Amino acid sequence: MITVNTAATDPSEKSPAALERRVAALLARMTLAEKIGQMSQVHAGEGVAATPLREDIGAGRIGAVLNAVDPHAVNALQRVAVEESRLGIPLLFGRDVIHGFRTVLPIPLGQAATFNPGLVREGARIAAIEAAAAGVNWTFAPMIDIARDPRWGRIAESLGEDPYLASRLGVAMIEGFQGEDLAAPGAIAACAKHFAGYGASESGRDYATTNVPENELRNVYLPPFRAAVDAGVATLMTSFSDLNGVPGTANAFLLRQVLRREWGFRGFVVSDWGSIPQLSVHGLTADDADAACEAVTAGVDMDMAGGAYAAQLARLVEEGRVSLEVIDAAVACILRLKFRLGLFERPYVEPGRPPAVALDERLRIAKQVALESVVLLKNDAGTLPLSRTGIRSIAVIGPLADEPYEQLGTWVFDGDPALSITGLQGLRDLLGTGVEIRYVRALETSRSRSTVGFHEALDAARASDAVILFLGEESILSGEAHSRADISLPGAQAELVRRVREAGKPLVAVILAGRPLVLTDVIDDLDAVLFAWHPGTMGGAALADLLFGAESPSGKLPVTFPRAVGQIPIYYSQKRGGKPPSAESAVLIDDIPVRAPQTSIGNTSYHLDAGYRPLFPFGHGLSYATFDYSNLRLDRPALCIGEVLTVSVDLVNTGCVAADEVAQLYVCDLVGNVTRPVRELKGFRRVRLAPGETVTVSFRLQSEDLAFFGRDNTLIVEPGEFHLWVGGSSEAGLRAAFRLVDADAAGASP
Ligand code: NOJ
Repeated sequence: MITVNTAATDPSEKSPAALERRVAALLARMTLAEKIGQMSQVHAGEGVAATPLREDIGAGRIGAVLNAVDPHAVNALQRVAVEESRLGIPLLFGRDVIHGFRTVLPIPLGQAATFNPGLVREGARIAAIEAAAAGVNWTFAPMIDIARDPRWGRIAESLGEDPYLASRLGVAMIEGFQGEDLAAPGAIAACAKHFAGYGASESGRDYATTNVPENELRNVYLPPFRAAVDAGVATLMTSFSDLNGVPGTANAFLLRQVLRREWGFRGFVVSDWGSIPQLSVHGLTADDADAACEAVTAGVDMDMAGGAYAAQLARLVEEGRVSLEVIDAAVACILRLKFRLGLFERPYVEPGRPPAVALDERLRIAKQVALESVVLLKNDAGTLPLSRTGIRSIAVIGPLADEPYEQLGTWVFDGDPALSITGLQGLRDLLGTGVEIRYVRALETSRSRSTVGFHEALDAARASDAVILFLGEESILSGEAHSRADISLPGAQAELVRRVREAGKPLVAVILAGRPLVLTDVIDDLDAVLFAWHPGTMGGAALADLLFGAESPSGKLPVTFPRAVGQIPIYYSQKRGGKPPSAESAVLIDDIPVRAPQTSIGNTSYHLDAGYRPLFPFGHGLSYATFDYSNLRLDRPALCIGEVLTVSVDLVNTGCVAADEVAQLYVCDLVGNVTRPVRELKGFRRVRLAPGETVTVSFRLQSEDLAFFGRDNTLIVEPGEFHLWVGGSSEAGLRAAFRLVDADAAGASP
């Protein structure tokens, strides 16, 4: 090992210029092989003590390891890198810390339902602290792919269908992971993924091709990534998918033009797992050499577990197919992050260095996120909350009532199911001996078709004052490579609902799932439905509080719930089209007159057998309180470009309990250079109101918030007429209008 002066000794050496000097000085000492080593990430595999891995690290052939999560193993590997490799460059240790680490938060889609960036930031901070203590210094999160197809299993990992919501919450997660200073104890580097368009996989089949026109890409799929870059995200991951014929991992348009040239990204780009060699499986390249050449030229700086850079790059450079400048630029970005993380000064996991957060506090935050994520879809005749005093017994039925692991959701490598409070446990803890609980599993799993347990379930329902069904899908049914074509309740669950209904008792369903489900065939048989996503460690405790009214539900849907799979893609911010549907025009199949002539019905954009409305719209979520919005006002009738419009509304809690409401602001640009969505979310505020309390909720709308990519795919702010709505969902009815004017343009008057 030779000594390189890489240490920053005083704070001025942390300035951007000093950082660049350190990067350049180190780069100047590196051999080509060492540079390629920095660009290679390997899976720790079964034995992190394995000799080949240690040899490769010692020889400077590896820059990052993924999936080593034991502090001793991490330190052992780091010691080889720092003390035995020639330049002593420390390793990055990456891990999928997607929604918590030991303490598991609700899945990201559930977190999105909180519409609470502050809480989401706090959850990510806790995850980062726990992960950092295990030796992780880089998480592969947040996933900010816009997801409009609930068949896609990875919708669970997403922040939903809306670019504005996903941008706000994605940034919150990045801030939580990275903190203000990446070198601070407990901070870890984030990775915004998957760049880009992955959520548009055909028919929601994971890894399938995507075709997204550039205008839609820029207006819908890229904004969360732009926001992430502006927020200082350390890294980006490419997408497995093929975008308009060029896989993300070879997509120079995305990686060079958009990311580097237009956005000025200074972090580094990692491929997805093996996605460089997969370029040949896509049929874009003939072999690993071509694949490595395409990927590095397109702008992929690090090869995750593909082995292609390690095996091919040196020869590609020798042959002149890849320039040294391309290699140096990639390595500089990787080294820059290692310096920013402070790894050259403190490479090892030090016990007690990440801030200590007591288990109670971690569980409190996990419970709060769960509480705010649960969406009350339906509540007929005030079925919920159940009354602790009015009810003597409940039947708790279903395959997901007592599943400590399944409630954690997808991507839980490090979570501890032993910490989980299940729904059944939460109810037992809350109710003690005051209310008798009859628990019947009824179905072995969500997929079971045997109805033998239904008899016992019906008996329990008959003997109880109310029934709570825990239905849905286990973790394994969503997540990567776990897409579904039929997204109704699997197995015999719908039949279970109908059987238990026969008892005639108040029937409540708690649904745990990694995606929106099509609930059309059961919704009318249920009196109330709490949609809980996969709520994480504290899910059951939160659900018990919600069921019995210790808290009021306040989650709002971050994604549209279709009435039928055939409606997909269905999302609130659709384009109007030339023949928009309406209640009058949408004649449904059962209402078609006998031998009706072709032209006598329809003529608008809808499905004869599903209509044009979803089962539940984006932003929907009921409460035990009721809210009234009134007096919508704007501080000016016209907004000049460069100015801010203040939108205010009076919000009253007209109910009898204190509750949170998420007030949402939507706009529509009536005439555009390209057609514009019928509504777009532009603001939201979560507020708590006591019964009878009125608050004024205000939003600031800047003219840039109304910008969009026009016909030539440049960002424009276009003067014209706008409508705006404020309310409790994307179907909010309270409307105002304003003009956006260009005060500098001749003849314009505000
Ligand atoms: C593949 C997934 O697509 C990606 O999201 C994940 O971060 C990597 N594997 C690493 O596990």
